[in-house]
Amino acid sequence: MSNRSAPPTPVTTYHPLSIGAHWLTLALLVAVYALIELRGIYPKGSGARELMKTWHGMLGLAVFGLVFVRLALRAIYPTPAITPPPPAWQHRLAEAMHWTLYAFLLVMPLLGWMLLSAKGKPIPLFGLELPALMAPDRGTAKTLEAIHEVIGNLGYALIGLHAAAALWHHYVSRDDTLHHMWPAAHPRPLLGIATQHEHGLEWKGDRS
Ligand code: HEM
Ligand code: HEM
Repeated sequence: MSNRSAPPTPVTTYHPLSIGAHWLTLALLVAVYALIELRGIYPKGSGARELMKTWHGMLGLAVFGLVFVRLALRAIYPTPAITPPPPAWQHRLAEAMHWTLYAFLLVMPLLGWMLLSAKGKPIPLFGLELPALMAPDRGTAKTLEAIHEVIGNLGYALIGLHAAAALWHHYVSRDDTLHHMWPAAHPRPLLGIATQHEHGLEWKGDRS
């Protein structure tokens, strides 16, 4: 039951669905990278190698779908503020990094989809087949493959820096950044309204 007269509870974590989607993205990316990096264990043209590439693409497309869910959740549920607050430049840098990561999660699958289209290959998605995004063209396919590979390799650095920053906040700055993304011991309700107050985000919702 909701109690509208109760004082609002400070929000110290992301929404549980955002937390779930964040760690699911990480798990999917581990599989996406492992499948493509380890494809060399099977000879070119073999069924096993093709299967690894197919799963690379399908899980990459799952990341693509998930990022829209994450962006929608982000628009609905506000982001918790770091306590104690870091300097403004650090806040701006973190924001820039987060948007770069979102761009990466959108651009990589899209490039993969375009790449298969340009190669004239099918684009399987868990029993379905997605439409081609462009007409087959060998030159375009080569260019797209090179861009996909370069940004894919950049992804290692981006993710590494992001994870290192999270650990820095936790062990060096000793603020609550990592707790924002940790499944909370007392998670905030799945439904409810968060409001911005001068001392941070507050949550009005049903805890029962
Ligand atoms: C977040 C998503 C993705 C990431 C991080 C990613 C990453 C990579 C990386 C790092 C490579 C280069 C491997 C190498 O040559 O050393 C690669 C290759 C490739 N990717 Fe992706 N990829 C993603 C999504 C997709 C999607 C959605 C598709 C297709 C639907 C796709 C299709 C391909 C293809 C066809 C190759 C070339 C493989 C080959 O010809 O051997 N990728 N990807
Ligand atoms: C490798 C381990 C990872 C750790 C330890 C980690 C940790 C965190 C933490 C603590 C936050 C909250 C930051 C804050 O409150 O200001 C966060 C946010 C975020 N993480 Fe990660 N993360 C990891 C992997 C990833 C990966 C693989 C991606 C995607 C490529 C990613 C994308 C994001 C994004 C986009 C946000 C911002 C969320 C928002 O405000 O909308 N993270 N991460």
